[in-house]
Amino acid sequence: MIVVRTVADLRAALRERRGGSIALVPTMGALHEGHATLLRAARRTDDTVVMTIFVNPAQFNEKSDLAAYPRTEEADLALADSEGVDVVFAPDVSEVYPEGFATTVSVSGPIAETLEGAERGRAHFDGVATVVTKLLLAALPDHAYFGAKDAQQVAVIRRFVADLGIPVDLVICPTSRDADGLARSSRNTRLSPDERARALAIPHALQEVTDAVAAGTADTDALRSRALKTLGAAGIRPEYVAFVDPITFAPAAVVDEPVLVAIAARVGSTRLIDNTVLGGA
Ligand code: PAJ
Repeated sequence: MIVVRTVADLRAALRERRGGSIALVPTMGALHEGHATLLRAARRTDDTVVMTIFVNPAQFNEKSDLAAYPRTEEADLALADSEGVDVVFAPDVSEVYPEGFATTVSVSGPIAETLEGAERGRAHFDGVATVVTKLLLAALPDHAYFGAKDAQQVAVIRRFVADLGIPVDLVICPTSRDADGLARSSRNTRLSPDERARALAIPHALQEVTDAVAAGTADTDALRSRALKTLGAAGIRPEYVAFVDPITFAPAAVVDEPVLVAIAARVGSTRLIDNTVLGGA
């Protein structure tokens, strides 16, 4: 495994590997088992696996959040190596955003402006879209791997990749969960044992809604009420329980085709998100 810090070195490392397929797995580091599932999917499919580690200042709306983001490069490199990553691209901020940088890739409409876009601020998805565009252009991979856990991020990336005609196939990996169902996240370590137990109401609510749809309930107001009841019983007042079209993020009144149900909630001071697709298969 090699570690490169500049786009020039990344391109040089990939030059002789272009005969085979190239995978890109973008991350902000602080890797956990959820990230590892993306690396494994890439390793199974592609000849060369490139992982990026870059804590992207542009997607943080709070300076304090950016400063507090865990930086664990040594452990991240060890995990990448053990998962068979070939190249790690871990640039400095000045490599990605050099002096004079003045361009933003901005997706408009409900995909980027509602739910996480509303809660985290307009700049969040602009920051994601801009950095992912730069990473795709730096590596020019055949496949780029992202997690379904961040469903709205996936919708944003799908939109600008299609709109800008970036030649890459996106591979979306299922949400990786702990044995009890909690979606894996670096934030889970901040939960106290009691909060961790209460947080399980989030995957439980998603499962309940899934079961209700299977049993014939299609009205999303009725489904939302069920989810709110389950969350409420665990003392969780969510920021949203949203039923939307998984591609456009337009609100869905009934589950008559695939509908994404997305939940965001603070448990104690830790903000968690989770989602599932209803009526899909
Ligand atoms: P980060 O939060 O480090 O996540 C990197 C990738 O891992 C994302 O595609 C995310 O959806 C995926 N991931 C995280 N937890 C997961 C889980 N439990 N199951 C499956 N996939 C999971 O998302 C970002 O970084 C950044 O926004 C980035 C795309 C790198 C742009 O800066």
